[in-house]
Formats: sequence, C-alpha cells, structure tokens
Amino acid sequence: MSSINSLILEKRLFEPSEKFKNQANINAQTYAALCEEARDDYEGYWSRLAKIFLEWKKPFSQTLDKSNAPFYKWFADGEINASYNCIDRHIDQNGDKTAIIFESDDGKVTSISYRTLLSKVSQFANSLKSAGLKTGDRVIIYLPMSIEAVVAMQACARLGLIHSVVFGGFSAKSLQERIHDATAKMIITSDGQMRGGKALPLKPAVDEALKLGGCESVSKVVVYKRTSLQTEMNSIDVWWDDFIEGQSDTCEPVWVNSEHPLFLLYTSGSTGTPKGVQHSTGGYLLQVALSMLWTFDIKDSDIFWCTADVGWITGHSYVAYGPLAVGATQVIFEGIPTYPDAGRFWDMIERHQVSIFYTAPTAIRSLIKLGADLPNKYDLSSLRLLGSVGEPINPEAWMWFYETVGKCLCPIVDTWWQTETGAHMLTPIPGATSLKPGSCCKAFPGIQLAIVDEAGNQLKNGEGGVLVIQKPWPSMIRTIWNNPQRYQSGYFPPDYQGAYLAGDGAVKDEDGYFWIMGRIDDVLNVSGHRLGTMEIESALVANKLVAEAAVVGKPHEIKGESVVAFVVLKQALPDLSDAIGNETAKKVINELRDWVGKEIGPIAKPDEIRLCENLPKTRSGKIMRRLLRSIARGEEITADISTLDNPHIIQQLSQVIK
Ligand code: WTA
Repeated sequence: MSSINSLILEKRLFEPSEKFKNQANINAQTYAALCEEARDDYEGYWSRLAKIFLEWKKPFSQTLDKSNAPFYKWFADGEINASYNCIDRHIDQNGDKTAIIFESDDGKVTSISYRTLLSKVSQFANSLKSAGLKTGDRVIIYLPMSIEAVVAMQACARLGLIHSVVFGGFSAKSLQERIHDATAKMIITSDGQMRGGKALPLKPAVDEALKLGGCESVSKVVVYKRTSLQTEMNSIDVWWDDFIEGQSDTCEPVWVNSEHPLFLLYTSGSTGTPKGVQHSTGGYLLQVALSMLWTFDIKDSDIFWCTADVGWITGHSYVAYGPLAVGATQVIFEGIPTYPDAGRFWDMIERHQVSIFYTAPTAIRSLIKLGADLPNKYDLSSLRLLGSVGEPINPEAWMWFYETVGKCLCPIVDTWWQTETGAHMLTPIPGATSLKPGSCCKAFPGIQLAIVDEAGNQLKNGEGGVLVIQKPWPSMIRTIWNNPQRYQSGYFPPDYQGAYLAGDGAVKDEDGYFWIMGRIDDVLNVSGHRLGTMEIESALVANKLVAEAAVVGKPHEIKGESVVAFVVLKQALPDLSDAIGNETAKKVINELRDWVGKEIGPIAKPDEIRLCENLPKTRSGKIMRRLLRSIARGEEITADISTLDNPHIIQQLSQVIK
C-alpha cells in the first residue's frame, strides 16, 4: 500500500482544453449520457451500439445470454465477419484512403490503401482455402511487425480460421507448446526479422519447435521472405510468394456466428503453463471499435500509431483490428525505438504527421534516459493525443510525456486493460475527463468496475483491494482454450459473487479515480509483458543442474519490474568466497540465464540469479515468497522467520554475484 499511498498524494489535475473539448467525439455531456444509459438499460445500451458500429449479415435477436454463466454469449445469433467489418465496408467511400503506412527498420516506407489491403487479404485467404483450411481450424502466426502480419490475421478472420499469434521473441519451446495446445494446422512465419540493422532468424525456431514433437497437426508452413538469411526449406514449407501465386484477389467473407472464436492469444497466469485466451468475433470487434472512437477520439483525418507488437493483445486490438474497424490510417513500425538513434519515434512522428501516439511506460522511461531533450529537436506539432498502456505509468514519466512530447497540449489516455478484457476497461475519455498523472481514471462507459475485499465486499474510497468487473461485457474472454475449468475457477472464483477477478490490486481516491497497484497473483510485469513466476520456475527446474527454483519480481527503473531467481543446484554450492568457486558460480548463472532465454524467450531471462543451498519454506513446505521478495529488494525483513530451519540462509540469499 505504501507505493499507492504516495501515488495518491499526486494532486495535479489536468482539464481538457476548450479546443480539445469542442472537437471531441465524446464530451462531458455525452459521456454522462452514455454512463446513464448503460446503468438504466445495460443490454439495451450494448445492443444499440452493436447495431450502429458494426455491420451484421444477419442481425442478432438476443443481446446477452447469461444462461451458462460465466460462459457468457453476446449477440449470439447474429452473423458477422471481422475482415468485412475492418476492410470491405470502407471501400465504397474510402477505398483509396491509406490504411497502413509501414516503416521498415531501415526507414523504407510502404503505404497501402484500403483497396490494396482488401486485395492482399482476399488473395491470401484464397490461398488458405486452397490449402484445405476450414472455418474453425487454428493457424499459428509467427511473424515480425509487417503488413503481411496484418494480412495473415485478417485473411484468417475472413474465413473464420482461428489465429494465434506468437510473439517473435518467444523461443522454439514456447512456440511448440502453443502449436500443440491449439492443434494448429498451419504456421505462417518469415525467414527472419530486421531489428536495429541486424537480420535475426525466425524460421529455424519453427523447425526446432516441430522437431520437439506434439505438432503432428501441422501440415504446412508458409514462409514470408524478409531478410537475406539462408533458409532451409523442408517438405511442408512453402514461400509466401509461391503460396499466393495465381490466386484471385477477391474472396467472399465467411459469415460466422458472433460468438465464433476470432483468435486465441496465449498469456501468462499464476500457474506454470500459458493459457490460450479465447476471444469472440462480434463482441470483441464492437469494443475495439468503440475504444478507437471514444478513448482515442479517432477522426477521419488522424494518423494513428500504436507501437505494440502484433504478438501482444495491444497489437491485436489497436493495430490489427481496431484502427481498421473504424477506417483509420495507421503507422506500423518494424524496428526498435533506439535505431539508428533514440530519436527514431520522434522522427517518425514528424515525418508521418502522427496525431495519436500510443505506447508503453517502459519505452517512455528508456527514451527519457537516452535523451530527455531529444523530442525538442523534432516538430511534434501534429500530435493531439497521447496514450499509455501495459503497466502503471509513474507521475514523473507521465509529466515528461505530457510536457516534452505533448507540449502540454495533448491529453494522455492511460488505459488499463488486459489480454482477457479485449479492450480498454479503465481510461480517461479525453474530451470529458480531467487527468491525474499516474491514474487510469475511470471506467469506460458501460463497464462496471469495483474494488472489493477478499470476501467480495465493496470497499470505500481510499481502501486498497482487488479489482473486479461486476458485469459481463462484450469483448470479454470467452474461455481458456482446452480448459474451461481454469477459466471458471481462475476468473470467477466463488468468493467474488459472480464478478470477474482481474488479478490486479487497486484503490479509488476520494474523487473516484482508480489507481492500479499491480498484480495480486504470481504474475510479473516486465517492460509491460506479463510473465508468470511459475513459468520461469518450471523452465529453471527443467535444467539438469537445478534442483529447485523460486522467482520473484523487483522494481526496475526502466522495465517496471525485473526478474530475480533463487536457485538451488543439484551439485554442491560453489564456495563463493573463493575465486575459483566464484568463477564456477558465474558460469552456472550465465548458463541458466541462456537456458531460460531458450525455454521461454529472451524477455524472461532473469536479471539476477542467486545460488543458494536451500529455499526458505514454511512448516507446510510452501516457499516463503514474501520473504524472498524482501530479500531481492534489499528491504528490511519483517516476515516471521522463526520457522526457518537454517537462519544463516538469509545471508546467503542476499548475496549477489557480480
Ligand atoms: C497491467 C496489456 C497499470 C495490469 C493490455 C494488467 C496496467 C496487465 C495498465 C495486463 C495500466 C495494463 N496501468 N497497469 N494502464 N495496463 N496493466 O494482458 O497488471 O499483457 O493486469 O494486457 O498489465 O497485461 P496484458
């Protein structure tokens, strides 16, 4: 609570300017009216919006089906197609409008119109059909940021194929687990990816994943050629260009039920294995479109840029689907913010005249460190709105973003949401909400959030507790693929009276503003990426040197949190007071870090590994994680350690090998 208490001392309030208010899609009056409408007639509210903002092939007759709660259904008998809603419906009026401005790592720019996007998606969809894929089949997409990634996702949606995008930074092992769990029929990948001037291989991870076994469902691998890397092609592999050769560029969309799964996206939870979060078509699309219009205040003339990778939910909702669903023009960037230098983002905003810029606090903090004055060298006057997502943004970073990037003219929307929620749940509505640095403000109109104690009782303002969403909402997770039981018990535990448990701690201040305190479960947030401590622990114990491991998080200036692992080796602990012993320990530590990188991906590599003889445990054998967290953070130890059988271990656990 102490960190949140200090945040709440933040008293600055930033009201929307007259200029912003006057042009906003939602102003204070419309905002209040929407909230009131949702309160008085919840289903009527969502039904009205779904009819206005989406095009249905067959209209729905029932809005919400609660008969099998918490397996809710929205607009269930309506028929719809996501790709049609994202592309075709804009063609008559806006076919020549730019859909995507793609900038590659080396600065080359390729822009495509909605009409060209439609041809590409249709042609790719026809190829998928020719390959024998049928509605409901799963397709793994393992591609870098590219027009092709969006084309592949939209082409799947056009046919009702269920895509599961795996972030390019995940290892062969992680990829294999996802292919296996989804029993995917196809993998769409590239030979490699360009990052910071270097070509990094991608396809070899697919080969390795398939060799690990359990992927017999895969009958084809489509490979997009992006780099000049030498690539081995196996019998089931086909180059993207050959795959689409001769295919027509028109393709009738397949109309699916609103509840048809649009995609699976694997994310970390508090147990060891990632879970395949399943999203629907109609409900998901409705809320990504609405949040584009209301949170981002999107207009026909805007140039929108969300820097998230398509491998994460933010890249699904605010790159692959949201901007297209509202017919916007967006920038997609292949590279990294620091290449060729730390001015890359600002340079791109100037060159592409970006008006709405959505990024993560970790990127903001690292760019402050690399050049707090750099934005001043660029003309950023095209900007009118800024956004933040993925982790709490500290007031210092918020103020810098506001003053140095936005020149005190652009509202910041700090959006709290999750892979499971599909779209923004807590956020300012920029023409209606006064901003407080560090707070994600209030519920998106229609969403009903509360802070409760462990018995599900609502808490008063100022009292910290757990964040719950009290009513089902259209873009919510539908289930966990292959594991409905885990969905039910993990998100709707009996104590919370049917509410959705978000897994975050939070508090509301006296003005009803929400402040997020971070996860209440064993999930870390490293650079805005969710990592389960159990996932990293199971990776560590899978190494032949390791007997036992415990992973905790520790605050990190740029990444938000960093990973600290306590490891008990099978072999005797090297004598750390001795030079040779120290060298041995260092070697083991490096080996284990690389191992985690290989097992999960570089993002999960522990920043620190501490070797120890034993882990501190309670009498019942549970690892004392709270104690380990305090030790990792160098805090004074307040936990009761009287039950420890070997108290000298504390000193050992505190030892960091440099
Ligand atoms: C955290 C990312 C504070 C939170 C969209 C949540 C945030 C988890 C914010 C979901 C924010 C996300 N302020 N914390 N604005 N946005 N989080 O599934 O802990 O990758 O539960 O979705 O990120 O991470 P996920």
